[in-house]
Amino acid sequence: MGSTPVVGELLSVGELAPGCTTLEFRAPTLIAGLRPGHALHVVRPESGGFRLRRVAPISRIDLLRGSVEVALQPRIDGGQDALTSLRPGERIDLIGPIGQPVSLNKSTMRLLLIADVEGFAWVRALAFAAASAGISVTLVQEGETAADLPPARLLPEAVEILVATRDGSVGHHGSAADLLADVVLWADQAVVAGGGEIRTAATAAALRRRSPSRSTVRGTPVATRASTGGDRAPWLQVLLSHEIGCGIGACGGCTVTSRSGQVRLCREGPAIDPIGSTSKVGA
Ligand code: FES
Repeated sequence: MGSTPVVGELLSVGELAPGCTTLEFRAPTLIAGLRPGHALHVVRPESGGFRLRRVAPISRIDLLRGSVEVALQPRIDGGQDALTSLRPGERIDLIGPIGQPVSLNKSTMRLLLIADVEGFAWVRALAFAAASAGISVTLVQEGETAADLPPARLLPEAVEILVATRDGSVGHHGSAADLLADVVLWADQAVVAGGGEIRTAATAAALRRRSPSRSTVRGTPVATRASTGGDRAPWLQVLLSHEIGCGIGACGGCTVTSRSGQVRLCREGPAIDPIGSTSKVGA
C-alpha cells in the first residue's frame, strides 16, 4: 500500500447519483497500481493548518486518459463535503491504494454485483474491468425511487441491470433481495456493496446457493464449483466502506469484528467473505 502522496490534477467533477459527487484526477503514476476495490485518500489543506482526508472508493480507472475517478461518499453527519467545491485544474494530494482489490477467480465468467445507491461507487470500476475481460456481469441495483438511481450510461452496455425500487417507480417494486433467487444460482461469483439489509439478503442467498437441492438456473444446469488452485476467492465478497482514518492500518478506526478476528478495512478489507472459511471471514 502506498503512503506517499501523489499530486493529482482534477480533470472533471461529476455525479454518480444525487448527492454522490465524483472527482476525476489525472494521476498517471498512480493508476498502474489501482484495481477495483481499492480506495484513495483525497487530501486537501484547510484553514488553520488542518488537512482534510477522505477515503474515496475508486469508481473508474481510465488508462488512456491516465486518470482515476473517485466517489465522495455522503458524510455520516450529513454535512457538506468541502471537496465538492474543487474545480478542474486544481491539484491536490492523493494517497493510495488503500485496501486490497476485489478477487476474481480465473474461472469466473458470470459475475453478480448487488448494490444500493451508495454502494454503486464501489462496484462500478469492477463492472468495467470484468466486462472488458469478457465476463458476463449482472448488476442488481436497489434504490428508494427512480430519481435516486445511478443512470445506466455509467456502466458498459454489456452489463445487465436489474432494478428494484422501494416505491415501485421503476423496475421491481420492492428490494434487491427479491431479485436474487435466479441470479445467485447463475453467478460464478458475487460482490455486494450496500447497507445492512442488502448485505444480509446477499449472505442469505449465498447460503441458500450452497443447498444441494438447487439444480438449474435460467435453464442451465448448475454445478457447485470447488475452490482449487487459482480459484480461491470466496463466492461472495462484501465490500464494507469506511469514511475517515489513517489508511495505513495504524489507528484501528476502520476495524470490524469477524468470526476469525479483527479486520482492518484499510488493509485486509474492504472485501470480506461473510460465510466462508478462507482467509477473509465475515463480519
Ligand atoms: S483507517 Fe484503517 S487502521 Fe486507520
